[in-house]
Formats: sequence, C-alpha cells, structure tokens
Amino acid sequence: MGAIFQSLGRTVLAGVVLLVILVLATGVNVGVGASYAWWTFFMRWLHVLSGVLWIGLLWYFNFVQIPSMPKIPDEQKPAISKVIAPTALFWFRWAALATVVTGALLAFMSGYIVAALGLQRPFTPIGIGMWLALVMAFNVWFIIWPNQKKALGIVTVEAAEKAKAARLAMLTSRANTMLSIPMLFCMVAQQNGGL
Ligand code: HEM
Repeated sequence: MGAIFQSLGRTVLAGVVLLVILVLATGVNVGVGASYAWWTFFMRWLHVLSGVLWIGLLWYFNFVQIPSMPKIPDEQKPAISKVIAPTALFWFRWAALATVVTGALLAFMSGYIVAALGLQRPFTPIGIGMWLALVMAFNVWFIIWPNQKKALGIVTVEAAEKAKAARLAMLTSRANTMLSIPMLFCMVAQQNGGL
C-alpha cells in the first residue's frame, strides 16, 4: 500500500483499477462501452471529474490560501508564492479547460448544444449553467492566469503593477467563487427538476 500511496501517479492509477474491479464485480454494467448512451455517460463522468478538480482548486484558493496569506510571516511566504500556488494554478487552469471541453462534448453528444446555448426550453437550466461556466473559464485563462503570472513573479513587472495584478486576480477569483454557486445549481438542475 505504501508503495502506491507514495506516488500520486500510482494512486490515481489504483483508483482507475478499483473502478474497473467494481464495474466487473457488480456485473450490472454488461453493456459497458456498447452503446452511444454509455459513452455519453462516460463523458459525463469525465466532465464531473475535471469540474471537481477545477472548482475544488478555486475553493482552495478562496477558502484556504487567500485568507491564510496575511497570517504567514513574510520570510515564509515564498513557499506559497513560488511553490504551492504555481502548482495549484497549473492544475486549476488545465482542469478548467478540460471541464469546458468535456462539458461541450457532453452537450454535443446529448444533441442540445445549440439549443442550450440559445437558452431554449427545455434546456434553459443547463444553458444558463454553461454560460456561467464559460464566463468563469474565460476569467481563469484571460484574467486570473495572466495577472497571477505577474503577481507570483513568473513574469517580471514593477512593484506597483505587481500589486495591481495581485488584486485583480484575487477579485476575479472571488467573482468566480460567487458564480460557482448558481453555476453548479444549474449543472445538476437539468436532469433533476431543479429549475
Ligand atoms: C463551460 C463549462 C461547462 C459546460 C459546457 C458544462 C456542460 C454540462 C452539460 C451539458 C451537462 C449535462 C446536463 C444534463 O443533461 O443533465 C453538465 C452536467 C454537469 N456538470 Fe457541467 N458544464 C460545465 C462546467 C461544469 C463545472 C465547472 C462543473 C463543476 C463541478 C460541472 C459539473 C457538472 C455536474 C455535477 C453535472 C451533473 C451531471 C449529472 O447530473 O449527471 N460542470 N454540464
């Protein structure tokens, strides 16, 4: 067990192996991979996985990292700004992109991508959710990430610009946290009568 859990790659692989064993052992999914509906389900699973990684990291920034920074002594701050934040931002922005791609594919495979983006009935709930998430993904790639690069010193800028960039990244991250609440409601509302 130790050999598995000491490596993140082996841990993720073990999760996939466990899933395969569960699917085979329950025997209920004899139709795995056999139908279009199953592949749509599979895309839904990939979508939720990547969405959890993205929003989990967004909430980590807002619930944990940002409120903790003022409590950390200055000489210890580089541990966050030089090591933890760049790694978290790497997974954050690519998970955001993966969520958009899998979400768009899911809507396409379900045959309602145009109707949903046009907010037509009965796809209005998921359409609103998709637009909210698209705004959030835009914020990640075109506001938060470019400004974080300045704030974390990945791109060198003057002190005043650095402070301005850090503030804009923080406020946009807060806006995304606000949007994540109705966005997630809409995501789960479509199939479950939430709206
Ligand atoms: C632009 C980005 C996104 C797009 C295009 C998108 C698209 C979709 C679509 C088409 C569905 C299927 C709705 C249905 O027919 O029931 C869905 C469901 C869902 N999405 Fe998203 N989504 C996006 C972002 C997110 C994010 C950021 C999360 C965060 C976790 C998320 C979580 C979910 C969940 C939990 C479901 C429900 C699955 C179910 O009920 O089976 N989505 N999304």
